[in-house]
Amino acid sequence: MSKFKLTFILAALIVLGSCKENPPAPTGLVTDQAMVVSAREEASKIGSDIMQRGGNAFDAMIGTQLALAVAYPRAGNISGGGFMVYRKANGEIGSLDFREKAPKSAHKDMYLDSLGNVIPDMSTLGATSVGVPGSVAGIIEVHKKFGKLPLKDIFEPVISMAENGVVVTTKQAELLDNYREVFIKVNSDSTKFASVYKEGELIKYPQLAKTLRTIAEQGRDGFYKGEIAQKLANFIQANGGFVTEEDLANYEVVWRQPITFKYRDLNIISMGPPSSGGVTMNQIFKMIEPHDISSFGHNSEKAIQLFTEASRRSYADRNYYLGDPDFVEIPLDVLLKDNYIKERMSDFSFEKATKSTDVAHGEVLVLESMETTHYSIIDTEGNAVSVTTTLNGNFGSKLYCDELGFFLNNEMDDFSAKAGIPNMFGLVGAEANSIEAEKRMLSSMTPTIVERNGKLWMVVGTPGGSTIITAVAQTILNGYEFNMSMQNAVNAPRFHHQWLPDMVIFEPNGFSATLKEDLIEKGYIINEERTPIIGKVDAILVLPNGKLEGGADKRGDDAAVGF
Ligand code: GLY
Repeated sequence: MSKFKLTFILAALIVLGSCKENPPAPTGLVTDQAMVVSAREEASKIGSDIMQRGGNAFDAMIGTQLALAVAYPRAGNISGGGFMVYRKANGEIGSLDFREKAPKSAHKDMYLDSLGNVIPDMSTLGATSVGVPGSVAGIIEVHKKFGKLPLKDIFEPVISMAENGVVVTTKQAELLDNYREVFIKVNSDSTKFASVYKEGELIKYPQLAKTLRTIAEQGRDGFYKGEIAQKLANFIQANGGFVTEEDLANYEVVWRQPITFKYRDLNIISMGPPSSGGVTMNQIFKMIEPHDISSFGHNSEKAIQLFTEASRRSYADRNYYLGDPDFVEIPLDVLLKDNYIKERMSDFSFEKATKSTDVAHGEVLVLESMETTHYSIIDTEGNAVSVTTTLNGNFGSKLYCDELGFFLNNEMDDFSAKAGIPNMFGLVGAEANSIEAEKRMLSSMTPTIVERNGKLWMVVGTPGGSTIITAVAQTILNGYEFNMSMQNAVNAPRFHHQWLPDMVIFEPNGFSATLKEDLIEKGYIINEERTPIIGKVDAILVLPNGKLEGGADKRGDDAAVGF
């Protein structure tokens, strides 16, 4: 290389480097000390108020989780599960697995007929699809380990909101209308959500308020033992499901080591198995790292190709190797090794698309539901909490327990009912994620915290089923490689590839016709119908002056609230 060329490249690298170090002006809400970003303003406000009253990020986590169960019943829950990744102000990190479990009576072929075919709807709709809920055990455990305020003080504003009612938004009215028929089919025409709820109306939840009061008074046992457990198990079984009182009493959360990895000067902390989020994102970032993606340009042809090919290979591994680590041996030491990742990308070329059938483990395929919810929190001390929680599908199984006031999850569909058959997200799974008694189903939830130069930089996550991992990764890249403000990084159009089906999914209207034509010419199959939006990212960025910028996704009713 000539001396001139070398000097030019070095100068370009310095300019690029300094550009990354020159942060963009914030475009989202900026606050001085603390913030919650979630799917509903009411929930973000409850979390933020808890911190203003002297609570920490963990107290706010409990309040926000409960408030979403009231204000955002399509995914917010006390009857689903989730994952929390945290980073305390002193740099200590950890993660909590409060994922649902399969009931004790569950077995590999439980959703197959006598010919070995998957029985339609059995793992997605109604009581047969319900897994043992983990959310209440999760929040009680968080309170036990990190809580500052008394549990009752955290519950009280949520109980008031459930009693006084929550306003129906335009989007919510539309969604409830779309699902009314199926609510009636799964429940009856006397169920709460058989009624029509119009935009601007209040929905009150007196039964849920009563359930929450019992939990506030009795803690974990208020949900997993005694009257509520008995009513819940009876209700599920009366509707043909499998969860028993014993399953509820036996449910346990697990504190797990998060997945951590370096990407340039970032340290990324994310959820490990039974979530596939951290491992898959780790692989994607490591496959991208040898390339100077920022020089390609945001959502440019080359950037999309590189990200897509990294995703294709990482999702193929995800679907084959990952499952509940308490049940299956996961070769993380191999999957995350530099040499393995290098080898995996050795056939990548900017000239043409790789075919998914040419990527190993081509016989397995995995699918998942898009509906989940995420919230990000930073408190006045600098503690950070990133939580993704779910009922799996929109309103989970659609089965609503009128007596207790909540929808039940359909998380059993996140197992692979049969290897090679796609689930509701189109993800095709393998043996590692087959059903077993008391096993946790594989998830894509990717609650993530990012350190930059050793300091807290971003808290991020999203719903979106199998698209969660790519949406989180693209948001981090938008902020870091493409120097966007937090809100702009969240707003930017997203795309997704998950190995199978072999297509790049684009958010409609976000990408130019020329770009798509060029990609098609290289062999990429493009799909813009599959999903109108990819994820609803809720994130917080720590600005260089220590203030916080929220990124609340405009694709939903999401809002940042803080002080
Ligand atoms: N149910 C969606 C997920 O766990 O990824």
